[in-house]
Amino acid sequence: MTTDLAAAPARTPLAANPARPRTFSGIQPSGVVHLGNDLGAIRNYVALARKYEAIYCIVDYHALTSTHEPDVLRQRTREMAAGLLALGLDPDVCTLFVQSHRPEHTELGWLLCTVTPVSWLERTPTYKEKVQQQPDDVNHGLLTYPVLQAADIVIYKATLVPVGRDQAAHLELSREIVRAFNRRYGATFPEPQAVYTEAPTVLGTDGAKKMSKSVGNTIDILGEPDLIRRQVMSMVTDTLRIKRTDPGRPEVCNVCQLHRFFGDDWAEIQDGERTARTGCVDTKKLLAERIVSHYAAARERYADLMAHPSEVDGILEAGADRLAPVAAATLAEVKEKMGLR
Ligand code: TYM
Repeated sequence: MTTDLAAAPARTPLAANPARPRTFSGIQPSGVVHLGNDLGAIRNYVALARKYEAIYCIVDYHALTSTHEPDVLRQRTREMAAGLLALGLDPDVCTLFVQSHRPEHTELGWLLCTVTPVSWLERTPTYKEKVQQQPDDVNHGLLTYPVLQAADIVIYKATLVPVGRDQAAHLELSREIVRAFNRRYGATFPEPQAVYTEAPTVLGTDGAKKMSKSVGNTIDILGEPDLIRRQVMSMVTDTLRIKRTDPGRPEVCNVCQLHRFFGDDWAEIQDGERTARTGCVDTKKLLAERIVSHYAAARERYADLMAHPSEVDGILEAGADRLAPVAAATLAEVKEKMGLR
């Protein structure tokens, strides 16, 4: 995309503008924001907002498939909003809102369900994972989760979706749903494309699984420095490096891989590990201090926003209001095409 786009007038209602492609992404309020969210997606939210009409959503409807305590959900929704703002989302440049504040998402979700074969949903890898993770709570929302995700994106006719690699199957399903709808009712939605960062999959502190709140292997970048230090010091490194003098394999060491994003001496760090000039503990200590200092300003902004919740709530309300005309227009067009008017 080469169009030079002016800064978004994010405070005015969003209007259709073919010269200004839209980017959309969603994040679950499933706990405090972690390093995987930032390196895998949020960095791209911020970067794309400079160039595109950027819309970012805290997907509380999606979170209801796993979080059932009302106060917890409310609190986490606000924390996620504060976290995203603290990490650089500027409400004057992009639109940040909460999914349930724009109920058109669920209405469109239902309409898209009618073009989506159940078999597509049953074979979704995240659905299969969730069935394992919460066998006593295999609710219907888990199965239709990707249809609502498609609705989130296409209600704004967004074409670019910054996400981590774990969302690839969902994005592919969104594209299939778009194709199924367009085939049946005529060209309506563009096919959305995933946009990845240089860290599409960030491994957790266990060095084995994707960093995720539900696994409990996160580095909580906006947490207290001592928590970050503890989490980094608990990281699994190269499991074949037993003695301090054993040469390491930076290509399989998660600590070393993460150094790539915090400093301009990655080649040196790798060399230190490969030649055993540095030990795993040294490398971890350095990484912990770099993460603590990299996020220091964001941590302060986060604390400040959490101390002023009405400011955060105001930003979220303005975001949802701003999107109302576009959501209504898409829904009207879709209903017309489907014979509901
Ligand atoms: P969620 O809340 O699990 O994650 C939010 C974003 O962070 C990315 N991410 C990671 N990237 C790399 N490595 C990791 N370890 C890691 N952990 C998380 C995710 O890929 C995601 O981009 N289903 C979505 C939310 C959603 C959505 C949407 C996304 C709902 N509607 C529409 C895009 C468009 C989810 O649960 O993300």
